[in-house]
Amino acid sequence: MEQIKRELDAVKRNTLPKRSVAEVKSLAQELLNKMTLEEKIGQLYQSGHDSTEVTGPAFDASKTVENISKGAVGSIIGLNDNLICYQLQKKALESRLGIPLLFCADIIHGCFTGFPVNLALSCSFDEKLIEECCKITAYEASHSGVDLTFSPMLDLVHDPRWGRVMESNGEDTYLSTRLARAYIRGYQQDNLEGYDSIATCAKHYIGYGLAEGGRDYNSVDMSKYRLHESYLPPFKAAFDEGCPMVMTSFNIFDGVPVTVNKYLLRDVLRDELKFDGVVISDYTSSGEVLNHGAAKDDKDVAYKSITAGLDHEMIYPSYINHLKELILNGEVEERLVDEACLRVLELKYKLGLFDNPFKHLYSNPLDYSMKEEFLAKAKDAATKSAVLLENDGVLPFAKDKKIALIGPYADYNSLIGPWGGKTDINDCKTLREVFEERGLDVLTSNGCGFTEMDYSHFEEAIEIAKKQDIIVFACGEPRNMSGEAASRAYLDLPGVQEELLHELSKLGKPIVMLVFAGRPLILTKIRKHVNAIMYCWFLGTSTSDAIYELLTGIANPSAKLTMSFPYAVGQIPVYYNALPTGRPKTLPGIDQFYHSRYIDIPNTPLYPFGYGLSYSKFEYSNFGVVNNTTKDKVEVLVSVDVTNVSEIKGDEIVQLYIHAVASSVSRPYLELKEFAKVALNPNETKRVTFKLTKDTFTHYLNDNYQLDKGKYEIFVGTSSTTLSKETIEI
Ligand code: BGC
Repeated sequence: MEQIKRELDAVKRNTLPKRSVAEVKSLAQELLNKMTLEEKIGQLYQSGHDSTEVTGPAFDASKTVENISKGAVGSIIGLNDNLICYQLQKKALESRLGIPLLFCADIIHGCFTGFPVNLALSCSFDEKLIEECCKITAYEASHSGVDLTFSPMLDLVHDPRWGRVMESNGEDTYLSTRLARAYIRGYQQDNLEGYDSIATCAKHYIGYGLAEGGRDYNSVDMSKYRLHESYLPPFKAAFDEGCPMVMTSFNIFDGVPVTVNKYLLRDVLRDELKFDGVVISDYTSSGEVLNHGAAKDDKDVAYKSITAGLDHEMIYPSYINHLKELILNGEVEERLVDEACLRVLELKYKLGLFDNPFKHLYSNPLDYSMKEEFLAKAKDAATKSAVLLENDGVLPFAKDKKIALIGPYADYNSLIGPWGGKTDINDCKTLREVFEERGLDVLTSNGCGFTEMDYSHFEEAIEIAKKQDIIVFACGEPRNMSGEAASRAYLDLPGVQEELLHELSKLGKPIVMLVFAGRPLILTKIRKHVNAIMYCWFLGTSTSDAIYELLTGIANPSAKLTMSFPYAVGQIPVYYNALPTGRPKTLPGIDQFYHSRYIDIPNTPLYPFGYGLSYSKFEYSNFGVVNNTTKDKVEVLVSVDVTNVSEIKGDEIVQLYIHAVASSVSRPYLELKEFAKVALNPNETKRVTFKLTKDTFTHYLNDNYQLDKGKYEIFVGTSSTTLSKETIEI
């Protein structure tokens, strides 16, 4: 091992060439001309290794090294050890043509430094912040052997029962489109050949978030209209920003599994979106076509995948096992393998792996991780991602208040959440540790566990609560209750946490509830027992410092929800940009029949999209719309004054929505089309102006994106419910 470390330390890191697309293509073609059919097929395989984290059926890694030596592996997934990567890369270089391996990993919201889970980060509405977090993540990942991350996840989500909502940007297409670009810019730094950047893979293409009942891997049924209008734009944005890989999703589309869906992989991806990068399957998703009942055997899987347009197979070996035979029998044209192989080679050239196959391998990745400024950014991101849902004035509290810190998260360090990359929860301080360290008078008791039906510590918790001024109740889901394969049917706090809260509320002391979770939970009943709710999601390595600063007013909350919080599980899916029905509430008549609704709960969510409180108070005035549209150009200027009418400096996220009053198709009540984050000093006013253009009013109509002329309502406000309105004609 010492020898390997010395070799890695001696790796020269000369600047790698920035090649034009034409150069990359010609180099890849030149190499392809020298390759045997087996070698080409080898480039289409992503293998695991002994230490690869298994997120599906187990695979046999016993032949990985042998296959690499034969040039029968194109990339490796999920390797955590640079020294092993180095040895595998050397094996690849010793193969006949010495084509380097591409190392891929799931670096989702931080590598060593843990940033807030993606749903939390999206609540910051802060592209610059996301870009900075991804830049740091890329720096750490690129020094720890990662060439490409399976991120960003661009699935739109409407069902909090699905455990993977925590990886998403929430329920809105436009926001996800803007944030997609920020992710790609941050990771790739427009410099794929650089040493400090990594390549990206947009996933999951497409519709995975629409799994029936929020049950992971479940069926999806979506119209082509919805696909184009809502689901494709974030992917298109990622590709336009230079994302070179896309991952197919596990679900079906129009009855055909996406991984073998020719319409999606060729007609839409290649022809409509002009995507020229690599299409990779999800973990064994090609083989799962058999379980969907959409292929008869492994050979058929290989046939269907390559003809549909799948370039790179993750883990499942149908290409390795059957493509050669299919080609020699004349059932598959070799041209298809060539095209797929070229795309993989082009990516490796773009990354500079042929120039320096060891570019991301360092003897000690930790030397490049967790720098002070990285942790500071993680704290900044955490303070900008926690959403204040309720506050009767108890927050911020003075530092001399005596605090009873109660709940399973009171003294618990697993604060990073699912898909934690290479983070270590031992780098997280617990809330108790930070509260004590920073001088609060704090008494702590878990009171109960996460899921156990154990009441034995209630009394201890109640006793300390009696002695203190304010109860901080730190509750939620443990890490493993969200993420992949962690769908839930109940969305209340698990175990006896709600009962404990109920008992504590009887003391009549102010209660601040901190909720840690990977999804919106149902807070309808418990919110009545508390004076403030800070929704903390999973905020990463610097969680506890960020929470301390938010609670004590050193930081001011500014985040707003990007996913609606349901009133009850039975209300799911509930989202702000729903379509109108033929029987909206505004119609006169007997309410029962003139209103699409449930008879036992309101129609609105508990907390809507775009909602979040601040310690500052903002007022909107002088809302004005100037329509400069002529027959040659669309230009609408929308302005509003935003004033901080408090004595506390704060950031406000100003949101602009439109509503197409009459189109040839039904359009949502509201569609987010612009937003801006404004920093305001006490009593300061800023005028915010948005320029709406043709893009704003372009819509998917008659199988095409086109300007949808007609009457529009323009709304500006602090959330998707508090809005001023003007009407214009385009
Ligand atoms: C997930 C992907 C992930 C892949 C590789 C799959 O189970 O759906 O999001 O990138 O595993 O770990």
